[in-house]
Amino acid sequence: MFSHTCPIFLHNYITIMAKITYVTHDNQIHTVEVQNGLTVMEGAVQNDIPGIDADCGGGMACATCHVYVKDDWFDKITPKEDGEEDMLDMAFEPKKNSRLSCQIIISDDLDGLTVNIPSKQS
Ligand code: FES
Repeated sequence: MFSHTCPIFLHNYITIMAKITYVTHDNQIHTVEVQNGLTVMEGAVQNDIPGIDADCGGGMACATCHVYVKDDWFDKITPKEDGEEDMLDMAFEPKKNSRLSCQIIISDDLDGLTVNIPSKQS
């Protein structure tokens, strides 16, 4: 949780953050804090996490944001919407715990989430 001062109204407001861990294919671990409401993909891009290119900017049209969600977290994230499964079929080595990180929205419930990045996205 961080406190910021609004430059217009000069009052403090609180930004809620969740810790997200990204594990690259070569086992480099990157744990960062991401603002609630952003996606796991946006958290990766903002923090220069290697392997999440997000070529389509979150439009569910590229699968370059493909991640594997740790099993104990898979049921806690919002279910896939139409189209995500189709796009994952085109991703590199999709597995049952595959997700597009641009479709996972950060909330307090996801504080501590760990995702693995496929080797092809290095
Ligand atoms: S950023 Fe393109 S599908 Fe997620």
